[in-house]
Order: sequence, then structure tokens, then C-alpha cells
Amino acid sequence: MALASKIESLRKDFKKSLDGLSAEDKKALEQLKHKYLGRKGKVADLFTEVGSVPDDERPEIGKLLNKLKSELTHEIVKMEGAVSTGAGLVEQSVDLSLPGDEIPMGSLHPITQTMREVKQIFQAIGFSVAYGPEIDDDYHNFEALNIPKHHPARDMQDTFYITDNDVLRTHTSNTQIHVMENQEPPVRVICPGRVYRNEAISIRSYCLFHQVEGLYIDEDVSLAEMKGTLEYFCRQFFGDEVKARFRPSFFPFTEPSAEVDISCLMCDGEGCSMCKKTGWLEIMGCGMVDPAVLKMVGYDPEKWSGYAWGMGIERLAILKHGIDDIRLFFNGDIRFLRQFG
Ligand code: DAH
Repeated sequence: MALASKIESLRKDFKKSLDGLSAEDKKALEQLKHKYLGRKGKVADLFTEVGSVPDDERPEIGKLLNKLKSELTHEIVKMEGAVSTGAGLVEQSVDLSLPGDEIPMGSLHPITQTMREVKQIFQAIGFSVAYGPEIDDDYHNFEALNIPKHHPARDMQDTFYITDNDVLRTHTSNTQIHVMENQEPPVRVICPGRVYRNEAISIRSYCLFHQVEGLYIDEDVSLAEMKGTLEYFCRQFFGDEVKARFRPSFFPFTEPSAEVDISCLMCDGEGCSMCKKTGWLEIMGCGMVDPAVLKMVGYDPEKWSGYAWGMGIERLAILKHGIDDIRLFFNGDIRFLRQFG
């Protein structure tokens, strides 16, 4: 038989076998593929016969054979698609009208959420936001804040030293100094960011946390203005029912200094385990900026005065959400984080 007719009859045989296959029968399809298209299959056999075809017919026969091979391959691939989806042809195996796979959405970390909320409250009443360096020199973290070397106030904050003169900032108060060095008064600014302390890690303290510092400088600023602003913040953040009180305290960079407590969110001042039976929860430090600090940055303390405050973001989030371990903010446990989605 001439090669051309062999090609034709092979095509017919193949078609017949393929038509007899059930779409589910993977094994039979595999066998058919092997029988016709395998390395030693029927198509390959025909290729070996091309050598004995007369020269002038060879190009034509070559073409026919190549066409046969690609046709059979195409048929097999089509069928494989039908087998693997178990229904219909490849072209029909993708249903574009089906809903897509749901992609799980993440959410903002509770510290980010709290930070944003604090920023919004102060931005709404005219404060802008400034960021300072997390690695800073001794001067900005201590000296310029009226904390000279060997001053006992340095013991209040266990410092990570990077060099003899550079520290991981222990508070965001360093940014007060940077802002005042770079800007003429009046100043209305909040300074959020990370701070670091070399403390033993426990449910109550971590080596890293976040603070928001605030600074307000103008002419004739009174303590009453500070009280009004910070009380306003407490109500906005914790709710209208919350009461705030100012308790005398000490910070080297403010005079007078105070700590702000809010009425306990759990027992409303009755006394419970959250407030250690006092009825109050401490949430920030504040005070009137010490004239020595103003002088250090080149502001005239006779003309300018103001107030400052600093609060811990983890502390705010812990109180607001009733979280009992600060380390939860840092260990990436998805079961904890999901609750804030
Ligand atoms: N820097 C203080 C701390 O980390 C917080 C603070 C207290 C900041 C009083 C202030 C302030 O600006 O006036 O504990």
C-alpha cells in the first residue's frame, strides 16, 4: 500500500478507536495515545517509511504525515481535557460565570487602628503630625529634655545604648525637641512612633512599644487649656461617660507635671481587679513645658509657654479592649489579631 493510503487508513482507525472511548476512561486514552503517538507508535512507524518514498513525492508525503501527527495530538489533548474535568471538551471546562475563589482579607493591627484613632482625634482639633528618629542622640532623648547625665530621672527609663552617645529612643519626647529646633512657635503637634526600653519582658512590659507625644506652644497658654484638651481626648477615645482626673507627678521636662487617670472602664470607679481596687486607670503623663526646655531649643520662655503630654498606645488599646497581655501585640498570633478585623 502506498504511504499516502496508509496515512489515510491510520487516521480512520484512530478516529474509530477514539469515538469508542468513554470520556472517563483515562487509562484507555493513555493507551491510545501511546499506540499512535508514542516513540515507537504507529505514526512514528510511518515516519520511518518516508525514506523509501521516491524523491519527488517525499515533500508531499512529509507534509501529510506532519498534518496527521498534529491532528491526532490535538484530538488526544482535547479528550484529555474532557477526561480530567470529567465533562465536556477543554473549551467548555472553564465556566466564567462561576463566582471566584474567596481571597482571605487581612486587617489592620490593633496598634495601627489605635494609633490612627488617636491621630484623628487630635488632627480634628488642629494638631499636625510629626515623626522623629527612633535612633537618636543622648542630647535629644535626654539632655534637651532637662535630663542631664547622671540625673536620677534617667533610671526611670532603661535605655538601649547603640554607642556611648546614641540610643534607641526611650520615649517620643525626643521629637518635641526636633520639632521646636526646626520650627518657630506657635506649635501644635503630635508625634507618634515606636519607643524602646531594656526591660524584662512580661505580661505588662515589652522591650518595644508605641507612644504618642503631644506639644502645644503659644503665648499665654494655661494649665486649664491642657486639662480641657486632654479631657476632650479621653471622652472621644473612651466614651462620653468617662471621667478624667489630673494627679500631681514629676517629669524633668514639665513643671508642674501631672498624670492623667480615667475612671475605670470595668467598674466605673467602684474598684475592681483591672484598676487594682482604686477605681482609676492611669493613661498618660503631661505638664506645662519647663522653661529650661524652651530655652534649650531657643524659644524665649518669657514670651512662649505651653503644655506637653505622652501616652502609651498599647496601654490605650489594652484598656479599651480588655486585653490582658501586652505581648499579644507582638507575637503575630492570628487568633488574637482576627478579633480586630
Ligand atoms: N516621656 C514620658 C514617658 O515616656 C511621657 C511624658 C510625660 C511625655 C509628660 C510628656 C510629658 O510630654 O509632658 O514616660
